[in-house]
Amino acid sequence: MSHNRENFGSLTTAIFAMAGSAIGLGNIWRFPYIVGEYGGAAFILIYILATMLVSLPIFVAEVTLGRRSRSSAYGSMQKLRPDDRRWKLAGIMSVLIPMVIVSYYSVVGGWSVDYLGKALASEFISEDPSTVSSLFGDFISNPWLPLVMQMLFLLATLVIVALGVKSGIEKFSKYSIPVLFVLILVMCIYSISLPGAGQGVRYLLHPDFSQISPRSFAYALGQSFFSLSLGAGTIVTYGSYMRSRENIIQTSAGTAVSDLLFALLAGLAIMPAVFAAGIEPGAGPGLIFQTIPYIFSSMGASMPVVGTVISVVFFLTVVVAALTSSISLVEVGVAHLNEKYGLSRIKACIVVFVLCSSLGVLCSLSFGPLSSFTIFGKTIFDFCDWLISNMMMPLLALITTLFIGFALKRSEVRDEITNSGTVNGKVFPVFYFILKWVAPVFIIVIMVTNFIL
Ligand code: PHE
Repeated sequence: MSHNRENFGSLTTAIFAMAGSAIGLGNIWRFPYIVGEYGGAAFILIYILATMLVSLPIFVAEVTLGRRSRSSAYGSMQKLRPDDRRWKLAGIMSVLIPMVIVSYYSVVGGWSVDYLGKALASEFISEDPSTVSSLFGDFISNPWLPLVMQMLFLLATLVIVALGVKSGIEKFSKYSIPVLFVLILVMCIYSISLPGAGQGVRYLLHPDFSQISPRSFAYALGQSFFSLSLGAGTIVTYGSYMRSRENIIQTSAGTAVSDLLFALLAGLAIMPAVFAAGIEPGAGPGLIFQTIPYIFSSMGASMPVVGTVISVVFFLTVVVAALTSSISLVEVGVAHLNEKYGLSRIKACIVVFVLCSSLGVLCSLSFGPLSSFTIFGKTIFDFCDWLISNMMMPLLALITTLFIGFALKRSEVRDEITNSGTVNGKVFPVFYFILKWVAPVFIIVIMVTNFIL
């Protein structure tokens, strides 16, 4: 039941929407602590190579799949190869994966909303530094507050999605992406100007290869998948909203470069401040929620107004970046319910809200009352994140590369990517080779490494 499909209005807005999906908590919350844990500057080099050589071609493949089929992720492969039912599994995965991601992503989204509130109320400034670092523990073990914040975050996401592809998603991303870059630049300048920040900048720029382990490779590729929203149905769905005259390679490269740049800027905004305050860079997932407020409190005490403004800038960046990504996750389910069952966007949003908030509550409570409930030794939140980002996303990305590389004809893929030969197709053979022979091998290697390490 296909309804009038909306499209992104131009090449720029398509890039903004896709960059909105890509730039998110993955860049600001996950990237800095993973860099801290898996090898600093040397890890960053591997990450850049992984993004350009492996993730970018897969990104192109997902956009191509979406635009060729003009269907959301669920039906895309079936629509292009209706006789082959094996691809149906990929359709099911592509609806389930984003729903599970939203369930735990909204937990961290909720924390960010709460921290934005705390920043606005100057809470990090008035407290003495030692009590500020315990704020996080007190907050996440509270049974109610994180849930309320998570629901607020989910509702905000759904309101934007309910407004539609053009008036909701495209408009929100179009204004947010430039604002995000300005905000993160302000943070970088502040952070680099702090006394003692030089050590943090050096940490990000001078690679020390002795810090690299086999895990660093697997995490670099895994992080680059997560950050580019690959293997989650979102890029296929957004690709289906791209107009046929737009250049797929340009859009994909524009998105990958913006995402990479934003991750590096986030590293530059966070690490120098972390070093300036004498905190360990490998502090784990709590890095931005524990150390950043601590830094504001210790440094803002002499200049409370500056401290308040910068902490608001920081957490506003986190909230907006998280929202532009979560709308892309929710859109996959909403588009599917709309296409397959003819549900209006508003009704589809309600269904998605009920499903995601049910699992989401469990993910949130796994930091408090449900912390002792574990699956394979992991809390519900950690298990969902581990299963999805280390296993399911690479698996769906693998199926997608196999579909584009082997189920579709080379000429069909070439036609879609070069807009029937009207745009320059020089890079096509390189892209096609990587997609068919290199990317699948890399994905299998990460999955195996993640499994055995
Ligand atoms: N790329 C987003 C981020 O970096 C997360 C995401 C993953 C969004 C998968 C959509 C799909 O935060």
